[in-house]
Amino acid sequence: QQLQMDIEQIEKGGFEHFMLKEIYEQPRSIRDTLRGRLLPEQGLINMRGIDEYKEKFLNANRIIIVGCGTSWHAGLVGEYMIEDLVRIPVEVEYASEFRYRNPLINEKDVVIAISQSGETADTLAAVKLAKSMGATIFGICNVVGSSIARETHAGAYTHAGPEIGVASTKAFTAQITVLALMALKLGYMKGTLSESRYMRLLIELNSIPEKVEETLKCDPITRYLAEIYKDSNNALYLGRGYNFPVALEGALKLKEISYIHAEGYPAAEMKHGPIALIDENMPVIVIAPKSDQYDKIFSNVQEVKARKGKILAIVNHDDEDIASIADHIIEVPETENIFSPIINTIPLQLLSYHIALLRGCNVDQPRNLAKSVTVE
Ligand code: AGP
Repeated sequence: QQLQMDIEQIEKGGFEHFMLKEIYEQPRSIRDTLRGRLLPEQGLINMRGIDEYKEKFLNANRIIIVGCGTSWHAGLVGEYMIEDLVRIPVEVEYASEFRYRNPLINEKDVVIAISQSGETADTLAAVKLAKSMGATIFGICNVVGSSIARETHAGAYTHAGPEIGVASTKAFTAQITVLALMALKLGYMKGTLSESRYMRLLIELNSIPEKVEETLKCDPITRYLAEIYKDSNNALYLGRGYNFPVALEGALKLKEISYIHAEGYPAAEMKHGPIALIDENMPVIVIAPKSDQYDKIFSNVQEVKARKGKILAIVNHDDEDIASIADHIIEVPETENIFSPIINTIPLQLLSYHIALLRGCNVDQPRNLAKSVTVE
């Protein structure tokens, strides 16, 4: 027993929980996921799985991304990236819905299956179904040799390393990293991404591990804010564009480890219902980095403010407008909009972690949850 505990302590590498360790590992796990693939000086992205199925990808009628939970959220980010840079229509499906709704699939479709464990029952079943209907299946898995990885035609592993905490953290940012590499490579091959933008994005992607490192410095402020928000019964997360999936992910993280009810919404959808929930007791976490949608999200924040909602905004360092009306802000480094989900997820992971801790929850093994859901 004592030995078991000692081993676990060593595995946690001095951190109190696996989740915190894994959050802090992200500069490294992203770097590992980029290593050998992203070669900015040569203007190259190496991905054998894409090269092998190049024609299938470039001639695809559409790309369907399947996954569950956090992996599904990464898929949503992938949809925005691929449609933006590659101009191929993308659909993102919950694996559980996809497999049971008699989907229309044929050999002109490419299915991307995203799974940290590579063992999620619904995702595996979705892969088998799409494969039997002639689609090309590409996997993004973290566990090498896992069932989903074995079932796919090709793929790219995330090199996040073992993820022990039930709440997915470093696997999510590694999944987005792989999707970014894919979108850049495919966009450049297809000619939908200009050489200059491609080069600019390669250089920026290369700087992301460093920017994640810098973002982690917000840990003390998230700890301080956790004290303020820990007794909330609900929380609303809002984002637009690339940061809408981040809102969903932030809400899921809070729900699963702190048991606070939370919802993620596209900020503009707020006025179609959720705005009715807003009063002085409703924390609203807004993900609002500089982007071409900044003004839009600023007016969404004003709408929350007018209804006395408590606003916590994730903004860039030089932000003035939203920072001036938010109750609290967390500053993060600026990056290209397309990579901003990686950066903006970090403070939300930390916030959930600290809130859960203060509420006395079992951070690494939340109630009713398993690390991989191998039954449907
Ligand atoms: C994330 O924090 C969750 N624990 C869960 O949603 C998870 O992402 C989902 O079960 C999918 O798992 P997978 O990536 O291993 O397929």
